[in-house]
Amino acid sequence: MNDVKPAIEALARPEVLAMAPYVSARSGAGADGVLLNANEAPHSLVEDAGWLALDLHRYPAPQPGALRARLATLYGVDEDALLITRGSDEGIDLLLRVFCRPGRDAILETVPCFGMYRVAAQIQGARVTQVERDPRTLRVDGAALLKAIADAEALKLVFLTSPNNPTGDTLEAGLLDEVLTATTGRALVVLDEAYIEFCRDASAAARVERHPHLVVLRTLSKAFGAAGLRCGSVIAHPAVIDLLGRVMPPYPLTAPAISAALAVTDADARRRQAGMLAGIRRRKAALVDVLSGQSGVRALWPGEANFVLLQVDDGPALVRHCAVHGVRVRDFHGQPLLDHCVRITVGGENDMAALHAALDSWKP
Ligand SMILES: Cc1ncc(COP(=O)(O)O)c(C=O)c1O
Repeated sequence: MNDVKPAIEALARPEVLAMAPYVSARSGAGADGVLLNANEAPHSLVEDAGWLALDLHRYPAPQPGALRARLATLYGVDEDALLITRGSDEGIDLLLRVFCRPGRDAILETVPCFGMYRVAAQIQGARVTQVERDPRTLRVDGAALLKAIADAEALKLVFLTSPNNPTGDTLEAGLLDEVLTATTGRALVVLDEAYIEFCRDASAAARVERHPHLVVLRTLSKAFGAAGLRCGSVIAHPAVIDLLGRVMPPYPLTAPAISAALAVTDADARRRQAGMLAGIRRRKAALVDVLSGQSGVRALWPGEANFVLLQVDDGPALVRHCAVHGVRVRDFHGQPLLDHCVRITVGGENDMAALHAALDSWKP
């Protein structure tokens, strides 16, 4: 292996060799114990496999009509304004591949934010402009963002996230309009709404009809309890959808995933979802209460999603302490503005009991 590696690497693209790979919650830590490190829902909305498609000998429809209609209704948009992808991760990748020329075009992101925008850009060889958020509130600095947009050259994609991961904050009212105005005729604005169902803000999905350079990303991975499905939606003007479809593989979605996506979005599942979301809100309020009174917590950003972010004196030590108690939380120490920060997903009753037990014995 060691003899072969340099020879193989000599054949690879330099930008791939140079990049730091994305470390996901599941690749970085194990999949055992109480998993509060990936912002997943605490349980699935479907209990049995009665929905499983068995006609596996046939290729599935590339964009299955029933699922496209279901998701378009769910998100309140036209079917031809929606592309079903293997999670929002694939939507992000398609946007980069279609709109950014390697070595020339750029994306803009407000850090700290979801790491896949940068990774997809680096894979494509696109430049990444990072606008730092306010160091204290961790909210987007609107003036800095608008200045960076005005100054940017060959800017093609502006990534915004509401609620944002890992800070949980939502985009300030009016800022999206300002960004849309500043980018008209120059760049697409990608609004990632992976956590929108957890917060009170309305989705901007319906606004793509009036703003052809707005793209909204939605996913079944979080509030629909279906991260294992890998099913997301890109919502955009049909002209954008058409271009993204050109670079997608011919059969991106598996038949079992299509059936399961219909199951987790049907009326019964939606009723169960309402209960699940209420439970998450309740357990989050209890967690915020405990953390607010806990010594050793220097800052707390409860945010509007299914997780909280906190800063402590020694973040990695807290992550290790939780791991010893079988609870996995996410360490952000070392990332821009996030020294000693830890993100905790709000899980189910038993998960949170295990977390609270770990926090009780934590001596910062
Ligand atoms: C802001 C944000 N966008 C997108 C994703 C990925 O979503 P999906 O599972 O649909 O690929 C995540 C996952 O954590 C996320 O936090």
